[in-house]
Amino acid sequence: MAADVIDGKAFAAGLRARIAKAVPAFEAATGRVPGLAVVLVGDDAASQVYVGAKGKATVAAGMKSFEYRLPADAAQDELLALVARLNADPTVDGILVQLPLPKGFDEKRVIAAIDPDKDVDGITPTNAGRLVLGADALVSCTPLGCLMMLRDLLGDLSGLDAVIVGRSILFGKPMAQLLLQANCTVTMAHSRTRDLPAVLRRADIVIAAIGQPEYIRGDWLKAGAVVLDGGINRLPPAPGKAKGRIVGDVAFDEALPHVRAITPVPGGVGATTIACLLRNTLVAAHRRAGLADPEGF
Ligand code: GUN
Repeated sequence: MAADVIDGKAFAAGLRARIAKAVPAFEAATGRVPGLAVVLVGDDAASQVYVGAKGKATVAAGMKSFEYRLPADAAQDELLALVARLNADPTVDGILVQLPLPKGFDEKRVIAAIDPDKDVDGITPTNAGRLVLGADALVSCTPLGCLMMLRDLLGDLSGLDAVIVGRSILFGKPMAQLLLQANCTVTMAHSRTRDLPAVLRRADIVIAAIGQPEYIRGDWLKAGAVVLDGGINRLPPAPGKAKGRIVGDVAFDEALPHVRAITPVPGGVGATTIACLLRNTLVAAHRRAGLADPEGF
């Protein structure tokens, strides 16, 4: 049977459309639209592109977008003061501080300063704890998008073997918790894992989040596995080209004959992240306003 190439862009477009439909009901109930503040420190080119895209998507969904830029040499206290201001601003429902922060910033301290009820990245200690405890957490956008796509494709995930490769706070760790809650048998693999191919060969679900171009080879995968590739890696430029191709953590062409379904890069996992950010902002706005969570998300 031919493998299914999962269309992350179409999935995200559907999610964004449902969010845009839910905004007017929130506005009718509260007299305002949800607001998302994004903070970018420094001038990393890739981060600037992401932050611009987040702002555009927020406005397109009918929400309010606030963008703050600080220079790379700003003082840590200046950033903490901005976070405190956003925490106190009633028109801001979501706060995202773009990571990584430039050298010299204490990332853990900045993250811990974000109001957990506005933490649309799900990375404050409070939300990480809520997720582990199975309480109502805000959950990091990329793993949330992966879970939604898996449910869309497979329905009930109970009893499936899931292997996550990578243990970052924004992806691997929250992904493991979500899959555990969905009754998967979860294995977390990482750069020190011995014999990764043997670990992967038992996986019904593979989540790749290691940031190594085409690291996972096709013959490491079990026949019929579902593979979600969160990697975004740029290859060195081919001769005569200014820029290299963007590839994932999985050797896509090799994997295709082995798998039941796989996300492409680009156009797979990455495409869903911003839609999930809007979803989290909508949910945070409802909870902060004392309303029930919006239905269907
Ligand atoms: N940098 C890359 N992805 C993300 C994300 O999802 N959230 C934050 N805060 N920074 C990022």
